[in-house]
Order: sequence, then structure tokens, then C-alpha cells
Amino acid sequence: MTDLDRATTETTGATGATAATPLAGLSRVIGSAARAANAHNTQPWELRHGTDHIEVGWREEYALGPSDPTHRDLRLSLGTYIETLLIGAGAASVPVEFVPDYDAGLRRVGRIRPAERPYATSLLPADVNGRRVWRGAWAPDRVPDEVIAAAEQTAREAGFRIAAVPTAAVRPLLVRAYHWFFKDRGIAAELLAWSRLSPRHPKYHSDGLNDVMLVLNRAESALMNLLFAPAVYRALRPFGLERLLTVFTSGATKGDGTVLVLLGRGSDPSREVEAGRVVTRLWLGLYQQGVYVHPQSHVIDCPDTVGPLGEVCQADGDERPLVFFRVGIPAVDPAGRPQHPRREEAPAPSR
Ligand SMILES: Cc1cc2nc3c(=O)[nH]c(=O)nc-3n(C[C@H](O)[C@H](O)[C@H](O)COP(=O)(O)O)c2cc1C
Repeated sequence: MTDLDRATTETTGATGATAATPLAGLSRVIGSAARAANAHNTQPWELRHGTDHIEVGWREEYALGPSDPTHRDLRLSLGTYIETLLIGAGAASVPVEFVPDYDAGLRRVGRIRPAERPYATSLLPADVNGRRVWRGAWAPDRVPDEVIAAAEQTAREAGFRIAAVPTAAVRPLLVRAYHWFFKDRGIAAELLAWSRLSPRHPKYHSDGLNDVMLVLNRAESALMNLLFAPAVYRALRPFGLERLLTVFTSGATKGDGTVLVLLGRGSDPSREVEAGRVVTRLWLGLYQQGVYVHPQSHVIDCPDTVGPLGEVCQADGDERPLVFFRVGIPAVDPAGRPQHPRREEAPAPSR
């Protein structure tokens, strides 16, 4: 028995029989942690159950390639997963904490281990359940200043910074980034691989981006399927296909509103995992105020737009944009759309 086991295993009575450890209690909340936001809905996380901890890592086959060239989104997504898991554990009074220990070779970001007390947060499983990304039309209402100020405060407390910029100020960057995104053969192939544009797709109910999440009607879904088919994409690409595809995203680039950019310092991969945790606190906190988000990673990934974006955000020294998301109030109730599909979680080994 390790020191950690000794510290966390509850011994009952003179018989020395052991009750469930905090880690065993986690099995109740692991399933709902998969409600975490994650890039392309690949659900890249993997939990490796040890005797006195659970390692949090990722599965190579669920890490994006050209669409996430530096694996920033992967680390952010693992951070959203960890924070969501901790929120669930906190609500279930399971005392655990996350200890970062990043190792790219071992595909590990850290460990969940028993803690003295449950994670304290005002965020609830109901928020985790209700939140979803919004890619549809926005109502004209402005996000109240105090809501933006609360988001800025949440970021500051964790050592990050939020820059709030008008959508109009970044629209040209957004359009340029969309052109870059759709013109890249590798990115297009990956988008097709993770798209499930018809309920007949074999993985429609387990992962990826479906027609409902992308707010596409049947005709638009059929057209997207056609345009991304390798032969059609190859044939039309030299004729400016990326411009046509950008038109499909018009909701994402048009209209007035506010974009929030989360900025961090340095290039430590662990800080990107931490940024993912902060993003979850931000998005759930906004959700509690009726505000939804639409993240758009390619503005940060596109080599031509990340620099100008930093300038718009007045990034100084080693500060750099980590997450870009539009905030607003949806024109229709997002609760009418189903949640993102999830893969079945493999049961935890008995301990
Ligand atoms: C790090 C990160 C990056 C993301 N990037 C984008 C993006 O560039 N465009 C987009 O439409 N959605 C983006 N998303 C949203 C995901 O596609 C979404 O979280 C996922 O499909 C699950 O759906 P849900 O959040 O609505 O539950 C991103 C999410 C995360 C966590």
C-alpha cells in the first residue's frame, strides 16, 4: 500500500475492511465528463486507472493532425475534460484533484488523485449538461458588460488574460483564416473524416461533427458532402472553392457582436491544459448568464492571421492568443438541438 492509499482509503471498524476510495467514487461521474467541449468532437481523452491515481492522457487516433498543427486544441480539450470531471466530482462530493505532469512521449497531461476535500466551484452538472457550442444565428442583444467583466476576472485569477474585441474588428481575419482553412487539403480531408452529415453515417451517434451541430439543413449537408468528396474538392479547389465554402460559414463571420480571446504567456504545454480548464469555467459561467460561445480555432492556427490577431488584442512580450470565441445570445433556444454525440466510456477496471 502506498502512502497515498494509506491517506485516502477509509478504514472501517476493527475489521480493517476498506470502503470505496475517492477514485472508485469517480466512476459515477466519468460518463458525464465526456460532455466536455472538445475540438471536432474527437473526444481524445483516455483515463488510465492506477492503484492510487488515474492518469489523464490521450489516444493518438483521436488527436487531430493538420487542423491542430501544434496540438494546442488537443491540450485545451484535455483541460476542458479535466475541469468537467472535477465539476462532476465536486457535485458528487468525491474529493479528488488534478496534478499536472505533462509528457508528450507518454501522451499524458497529468493525474487525478485523492484530495482532502471535494473541488469547490459554483459550476454545476446542470451547466455541463445544458452548455453547447452555438453556430446558429445570434440575437441582436449585446452581452452585458458585467458578464464580460466576470469572464475577464475568471481568466485573470488563473494567470491568463481576456481581450474583448468587436466582431467587426476581427472579421477580415476570420474570413482570411476560413479561406486558408478550406484551401488546405489536409484540413479538408480531416474535416470530412470527422463530419457525420447524415444520420446514416455509422458513427453519427458516437463522435464527430454532425449536421445538427453544424446547423446545416438537408440540402446544405448534401452539398457539403459533395464539395468535400475528394474528387470534387480536388477538381474545384483551383477555382476558389474555399470562397464558396466560407459562404457556408457566413453566420460565423457576419453580424455585430463580441469576440473574446484568451491569451496566455510562454509556450509551456501544461499551461495550454490549464487554459482548457479556464475555458470550461468561462463557457459554463457564460452559460449560466444565458450567453453562448462559438470557438474558431483557425484564426489562431492560420500563420497569416495569428500575428494580426495578437496586435488587435494588444498582446505584449511573450503573450499569445490561445482560444478565440465569439459570445452572444442565440436567436433561437439552443436547448432544442440535441447534445453532441458521445462514445460509450469503457467501464473502469474493478479496484
Ligand atoms: C479547444 C477547442 C477548439 C474548438 N474549435 C472549434 C472551431 O474552430 N470551430 C467550431 O465550430 N467549433 C470549435 N470547437 C467546438 C467543438 O467542435 C465542440 O465543443 C464539440 O463539437 C462538442 O460540441 P459541444 O461543445 O456543443 O458539446 C472547439 C472546442 C474546443 C474545446
